[in-house]
Amino acid sequence: MIVTTKELFKHAYGKYAVGAYNINNLEQTMGLFQGNLDSKAPFIVQLSKGARSYTHKKMVEALIRAADEIFPDAVFAVHLDHGDEATCMDCINSGFYSSVMIDASGEPFDKNIEITRRVVDAAHAKGIVVEAELGKLGGVEEHVSVKEADAKLTDPEQAKEFVRRSGCDSLACAIGTSHGAYKFAGSQGLHFEVLVEIQKRLPGFPLVMHGSSSVPQDEVARINAAGGQLGGAKGVDENQFAKAATLGVTKVNIDTDGRLVWCRVHREAFRDDPKNFDLRPPGKVFMKEYAKFIAHKNVKLGSAGQLDAVRALVKK
Ligand code: G3H
Ligand code: 13P
Ligand code: ZN
Repeated sequence: MIVTTKELFKHAYGKYAVGAYNINNLEQTMGLFQGNLDSKAPFIVQLSKGARSYTHKKMVEALIRAADEIFPDAVFAVHLDHGDEATCMDCINSGFYSSVMIDASGEPFDKNIEITRRVVDAAHAKGIVVEAELGKLGGVEEHVSVKEADAKLTDPEQAKEFVRRSGCDSLACAIGTSHGAYKFAGSQGLHFEVLVEIQKRLPGFPLVMHGSSSVPQDEVARINAAGGQLGGAKGVDENQFAKAATLGVTKVNIDTDGRLVWCRVHREAFRDDPKNFDLRPPGKVFMKEYAKFIAHKNVKLGSAGQLDAVRALVKK
């Protein structure tokens, strides 16, 4: 059942975070739905611009429609990840997405608000909800001065004004994470103090944490043992998701970790069976491993076990 992120956030706020997972192909789609049902979790399926053009936007959308039929118990939102204005409008007009993200965070403050407001007006007219972003995501390196590093993080006062003027339904905040497998250097980690200040100014308002992959070191070691070269990869401590949830983070974006599962499974499969040329044996292993990975993440996010309660709420 496709629902809006707004409905999911209403149930989750302050208690747990909903996992937002990116998909590109059918193996990820099957593993994602299976893993969420195995752990009885509501979830968010995310399609990036790149995912929509990897094969064809209609292909990934059809995968989700098919999964909705194959897994009738699933409760999930369909979300555009990091959209520009044109892609947001395309998704809003498609009638398929229940939520979109407008990422104008690279623009100056007022321009970001102006673009976000246009997307919000178009989306709300069709019952679609909007995530926006304020602040600059990017790893905070050890050598960068505190002043420089803080300048990238979301300013809590600006966050309040941004939400009021843009009308967005949730806000992606920069609290020190970045996308990909190389997030932190040295002892850097999440800036909870920023979340505390944002929550004070926006009580009850859903916040989003991008760049939340953990880059498990055992996964990296297995990839490298099978021929990979992922030196110095480092991610977010998944044991910190629970604390972030109490501070208003209701959506946690995870993509890179899933790609690492894919990479490990395929590297090991071809290393261990060099005569194999068939895509199905590693594909089967990947779907199972990805489902296991999703179920594990949902336990860390606190969304595991919430499915029945959420279904009861959205059916009312
Ligand atoms: O934030 C970016 C997501 O991980 C999606 O990545 O643009 O390569 O599909 P992508
Ligand atoms: P990761 O690269 O940490 O998985 O972040 C994904 C993300 O933020 C998607 O929007
Ligand atoms: Zn992101």
